[in-house]
Amino acid sequence: MAALKADLLITGARLATMAGAADLGVVEDGVLAVSGGRIAWAGSRTGAPAIDAADRLDCAGRWVTPGLVDCHTHLVFAGNRADEFARRLAGESYADIARSGGGIAATVRATREADDAALASASLGRLDALLAEGVTTIEIKSGYGLDEETELRQLRVARHLATQRRVSVAATYLGAHAVPPGGDRASYLDLVCDRMIPRIAIEGLADAVDVFQEGIAFNGDECARVFNAAHAAGLRVKSHADQLSDGQGAALAAKHGALSADHLEYTNANGAAAMAQAGTVAVLLPGAFLMLNETRKPPIAAFRAAGTRMAVATDLNPGSSPIASPRVCGTLACVLFGMTVDEVLRGFTIEAAHALGRANRIGSLEAGKDADLAVWSVETLSELVAQIGLSPLFARFHQGVRA
Ligand code: NIG
Ligand code: FE
Repeated sequence: MAALKADLLITGARLATMAGAADLGVVEDGVLAVSGGRIAWAGSRTGAPAIDAADRLDCAGRWVTPGLVDCHTHLVFAGNRADEFARRLAGESYADIARSGGGIAATVRATREADDAALASASLGRLDALLAEGVTTIEIKSGYGLDEETELRQLRVARHLATQRRVSVAATYLGAHAVPPGGDRASYLDLVCDRMIPRIAIEGLADAVDVFQEGIAFNGDECARVFNAAHAAGLRVKSHADQLSDGQGAALAAKHGALSADHLEYTNANGAAAMAQAGTVAVLLPGAFLMLNETRKPPIAAFRAAGTRMAVATDLNPGSSPIASPRVCGTLACVLFGMTVDEVLRGFTIEAAHALGRANRIGSLEAGKDADLAVWSVETLSELVAQIGLSPLFARFHQGVRA
């Protein structure tokens, strides 16, 4: 039989393929062949076909996982809100600060004032921090413009970042993040649903549409209208749901077939079951939980019991989660939410891929998928979340290219 031709052959690897339904899919003494930017073969050395490769990398026993997928970020913004950290320490809540004109509105002011070059360069710094931790796909939401021009600029900058670095970007339109400062709620929702969503779909500027369903943002009826507008335009939907109160947001997202519902601190068992039924992924965001000093935890046990998929993400943003580290968020998911190391590792790979509707392309080490890989200088994968501040990433490959 003719040898399999490959651009790159990785040998001596311990693979965490994430290919199974629930475990890490570990293959000791694994090999992985890359051809045309895709995985041509992955598995045990003893079962591998003859492979004729142009280039080789001996991992000398290192672990190889799928490149990390950060499926919930607000990476493109200007300014910072470190002053609000001090205000919260002094006793004000996140919602108090939002109602006083700070919070999302403060970042909206800074983002509107920044030109494209400033927005891109501030965002690139944050992106580089994520890439240094093995990220190969990142979702980026708009939502800090809240007017037509700035929302479109945010989405264009998000797309532009993918041309500046070796990374895949999923862009999400989050016009329904807040009512713009000084704006009228009804006419703003008209703008979001009747003008922005159709335009963004036609111009291919976003892959999905998100909402913030919360007392300080939009109610269930308003979010349902946004979901319907997104579906009419052929876009999938996501939701920031049940973060600060139980608004039945998880159930609403599931009813509308959302890719994911995110935060979920106040979600109940019915919401968890509805999500499992609909295939809506629970995206857990322990960075925001930590920084807002929340006490109510998302119902991990109910998600497990219902069989709801669980992903983890940084929620990187200037207010509630100024954390550019998936690994730290993984540590927090374990310590604060009681997730297992394996749940977190799947949560930053295959489950996060599901949360973006991209599990057919990324998230596991399987033939046909993008050759997005992270090679780690660790003896056990637990080290990735059991330690903070170390840099165990040895190599990162995006679509087969070492970057
Ligand atoms: O995911 N919850 C709403 N939106 C963001 C935070 C936005 C902000 O505070 O700037 C979040 O936590
Ligand atoms: Fe968010």
